[in-house]
Amino acid sequence: MSKKYLIRGGHRLTGSVDISGAKNAVVAILPACLLSGGVCRLENIPGIADVGTALEILSSLGATVRWLDKNTVEIDPRPVSLHTVPHDLARKMRASYYFIGALLGRFGMARVPMPGGCDFGVRPIDQHLKGFSALGATVSPVENAIIEVLAPRLVGNAIYLDMVSVGATVNCMLAAVRARGVTIIENAAKEPHIVDLANFLNSMGADIRGAGTDVIKIRGVDLLSGTTYSIIPDQIEAGTYMAAAVATGGDVLVRGVIPKHLESITAKLSEMGADIEEYDDAIRVCRTGPLTHCNVKTMPHPGFPTDMQPQISALLGLAEGTSIVTEGIWDNRFRYVDELRRMGADIQVDGKVAVIQGVSHYKGAPVKAVDLRAGAAIIIAALAAVGETQVEDIHHIERGYERLIEKMRSLGADISLIQVGDGIRQAL
Ligand code: EPU
Repeated sequence: MSKKYLIRGGHRLTGSVDISGAKNAVVAILPACLLSGGVCRLENIPGIADVGTALEILSSLGATVRWLDKNTVEIDPRPVSLHTVPHDLARKMRASYYFIGALLGRFGMARVPMPGGCDFGVRPIDQHLKGFSALGATVSPVENAIIEVLAPRLVGNAIYLDMVSVGATVNCMLAAVRARGVTIIENAAKEPHIVDLANFLNSMGADIRGAGTDVIKIRGVDLLSGTTYSIIPDQIEAGTYMAAAVATGGDVLVRGVIPKHLESITAKLSEMGADIEEYDDAIRVCRTGPLTHCNVKTMPHPGFPTDMQPQISALLGLAEGTSIVTEGIWDNRFRYVDELRRMGADIQVDGKVAVIQGVSHYKGAPVKAVDLRAGAAIIIAALAAVGETQVEDIHHIERGYERLIEKMRSLGADISLIQVGDGIRQAL
């Protein structure tokens, strides 16, 4: 028996939806708790599978994890004495590699298996390892693709990243925050989750400046204290609901967001013909007319985010005319196109470029979520489609979207969780 989403398309999404805490911030901040000398209380934690995995890793290392309510967790890292992340947990998500930087910063040693996560082709971590080495660590691969990093004493240094990497920037920050002396990360990533991690660490007494620019300066401190911190809203979850509203010709107020983080997304949706109204912490998205084609190229922040590329492509598949989508970050992030084609999309992919010829409508079909954002794109297409879509492999989607069914239903979507097997289809 496998779990699937059953979506009956053709319903306009209307009403309001509250956005959860950011996945890519929380998966960095949870490991960062290891660096603290006291209890960390984290608020606005999204209820997603990746959070469950990160908390399991923290517990397996010896941390005390206590939920105060469904979105607030308290972590006491003081009992932690182990520095090896279990293989099965590391494989469940990409961000398990943040435990390398955090354990290294805390103990001067870490043993972490190579991480899992979405498959976009090769995902090297050479820049992370280069950063650790620059701080004085010795990096050695051991058996079973486990990485061991050792440093009797971490010492601040200049780190120039060869390419803008979110993961390498986070890992270098984690390792440097308690190192002796000053670390300067050049060509750093500028994503909102980098700023959130810096704000979290600074709230514990770290001295990090420049996060959000391409030069981050970290003056190492001996000790970090406990803190209470609230995670920023998830820009990609927000963008996904905005795109779903546009796809269905709906009218949705996306609440609890930081509109500045969404500028590249709102700009493209406006270009496509959506009406957007910005408030202090909400954005209203509505569409009455036809969708207009446009071109999109993904880039590091503040460019258009790669994590919204599949969702915007699903929308462009319904726009009049030809659109060109260029993936500027990952080698292979068009695997979802085959699934959209099953639904009637007309998309040709050549390397990192997709040429999208708009069609008048999608048709419901049996499809797979090949990765997290691919799953989001399929859902957007299914909500707008004529007929019924069954989505397989929804565990990818559960890694990053909190209470998706409940939130979509509250906007009027016809979506449910079903269990399928042996010719039987059962509602869950
Ligand atoms: N890269 C290297 N060497 C490295 C690190 C990165 O060559 O050592 C390359 C990558 O191959 C890629 C580019 O640099 O071509 C950027 O990769 P980055 O390190 O920024 O990606 P990441 O840290 O592995 C995070 C997000 C991804 C998001 C990317 C880009 C997390 C946990 N993951 O991945 O999010 O696509 O940044 O913004 O923060 C998602 O949420 O669906 C997701 C995949």
